[in-house]
Amino acid sequence: MKDVKETLLERTSVRRYEREDIPQEALDFIYRAVENTPTSYNGQQFSVIDISDQPLKEELYAITGQKQLKTCRRLMIFCSDYNKILLLAKRKGLEAPEFTDTMDGVMIGVIDASLAMMSAVVAAQACGLGSNCIGYLRTADPAKIAELLKLPKGVFVVCGLAIGVPREQPDLKPKEPKSLVFHENHYRQDTDAMVNELADYDAVVSEYNRTRSGSTTENDWCGHILDYYRHAMSYRILDYLKAQGYDVKR
Ligand SMILES: Cc1cc2nc3c(=O)[nH]c(=O)nc-3n(C[C@H](O)[C@H](O)[C@H](O)COP(=O)(O)O)c2cc1C
Repeated sequence: MKDVKETLLERTSVRRYEREDIPQEALDFIYRAVENTPTSYNGQQFSVIDISDQPLKEELYAITGQKQLKTCRRLMIFCSDYNKILLLAKRKGLEAPEFTDTMDGVMIGVIDASLAMMSAVVAAQACGLGSNCIGYLRTADPAKIAELLKLPKGVFVVCGLAIGVPREQPDLKPKEPKSLVFHENHYRQDTDAMVNELADYDAVVSEYNRTRSGSTTENDWCGHILDYYRHAMSYRILDYLKAQGYDVKR
């Protein structure tokens, strides 16, 4: 198993996988890491749909256009989940507050599922596997995906994670410098200096995009991210949440 430093500092998203199976020992380790994720109130407001069925993976590929979904050996879909606690409360005759109807209720489920996914990312990486988070499983066709995965009310997809034996080793992507990520004691007030550092970083990413191994592009960081936001403005996530039994009021 890789040490913690190599696991965390050499991780990249891997989108091409070998055909070989993931060793059972590695899968068991990923499960245990996911189960031991810290969660709000220890409520464990998440579930994972663990997909090995090839026809189902291909159907999800057809919906999302993400090739990794059919070539990965395992696809784990991390969901926010209040169904489980509500089932138990009902069995015990306990009245449950409508926590799903609050923004904090939504955030808690999203945080728990995201942390669980990160546990899986790290565990997979430590075992020498590669992974790729797939947000399109949340956004591409939420109603169809909820139907395919038979999601009950109180459960919605936060993100997918494709896992497999790596068939590529992409270059590490340059990330924002420490000075832009860590603010000392309070949020930085030197906005002009920040903007300069952001512009420098933008230039670093442009250079990386022009020169990286594999396919190269001409885009900068800022314009690229804004294009994603533009596209994402068509997503109707509130409607999706309503369909899954949420009614966010406050
Ligand atoms: C929530 C989330 C959703 C993502 N969705 C996708 C996706 O749908 N398709 C994809 O190819 N990569 C996806 N990614 C991977 C990012 O593009 C990737 O993490 C980012 O470009 C940084 O590259 P790195 O992981 O190699 O450091 C996603 C990552 C996160 C955290």
